[in-house]
Amino acid sequence: MTKHAALPQIYETIGEGYAKARLPDPRIAQAIVSVLGEAWSIVNVGAGTGNYEPTDRAVVAVEPACAMLAQRSVMRIPAVRAVAEALPFDDHTFDAALAMFTLHHWHDLAAGLREMRRVARRQVVVLNEPEIGHRFWIAEYFAEAAVMHSEKYAPRVADLRHHLDVQDVLVLPIPADCTDGFIGAYWCRPEAYLDGRVRASMSVFAQMPPDILTRGIRRLQRELADGTWDRRFGFLRELASYDVGYRIVVAEKPPLAAGGKG
Ligand SMILES: C[S@@+](CC[C@H](N)C(=O)[O-])C[C@H]1O[C@@H](n2cnc3c(N)ncnc32)[C@H](O)[C@@H]1O
Repeated sequence: MTKHAALPQIYETIGEGYAKARLPDPRIAQAIVSVLGEAWSIVNVGAGTGNYEPTDRAVVAVEPACAMLAQRSVMRIPAVRAVAEALPFDDHTFDAALAMFTLHHWHDLAAGLREMRRVARRQVVVLNEPEIGHRFWIAEYFAEAAVMHSEKYAPRVADLRHHLDVQDVLVLPIPADCTDGFIGAYWCRPEAYLDGRVRASMSVFAQMPPDILTRGIRRLQRELADGTWDRRFGFLRELASYDVGYRIVVAEKPPLAAGGKG
């Protein structure tokens, strides 16, 4: 076991129930397939229960938490228990390495990105860009937690540029009826955040200090009941999709020089 694999894995405790609460959204899946392009062999890093793994390609999943591995379908893609920071594969093994909604959990971002670049020609990362995510109304209700979370964990597209040859940064609009249950999924369905089962599969809520959580929930309850939320944000209920700050980052190593290293 590597030193990173030995570190505590938060999804061992909060991962239970993930497969039920976090259903892959078909529109997001389509966006990922588009950027994977013709990549045939793919490693899905921080794969969780297997959401967004294309079923028509040669995919290998990498996931450290047993609680998540246990929820993967037995018919699914082969999975390896490992961490991003020490991928158990040779250099240039895959056409593409995919990492979705996972970077903010890694213990060593630089090491994980270096590993993705080492084992695959193309890297596809989905993250929430904190500056934009902070403009999402939920950050106002749980402001202290949002700031703490982003200072402590949230990687930015700019951070990725230090480690990857970023070719493209695409906005990933979130559909109004998104079937996945990440923190920004319910941007036009505020009532959902009042449901503890919905919040349970969102790591920001699972790690939030109880006093901040209770205060934010009470305020949201009150402002939904008295119409404040709808006066301020009700226009969101009419939109089909919205930019909550999610970005797809596509990077690609330059071609190998003859006899050289990529
Ligand atoms: C929010 S889940 C996302 C799972 C999946 N990619 C998806 O889109 O549903 C984050 C996952 O990252 C995993 N993770 C946490 N630390 C990791 C690390 N250092 N290396 C790889 N995966 C990690 C967690 O165990 C968890 O399964």
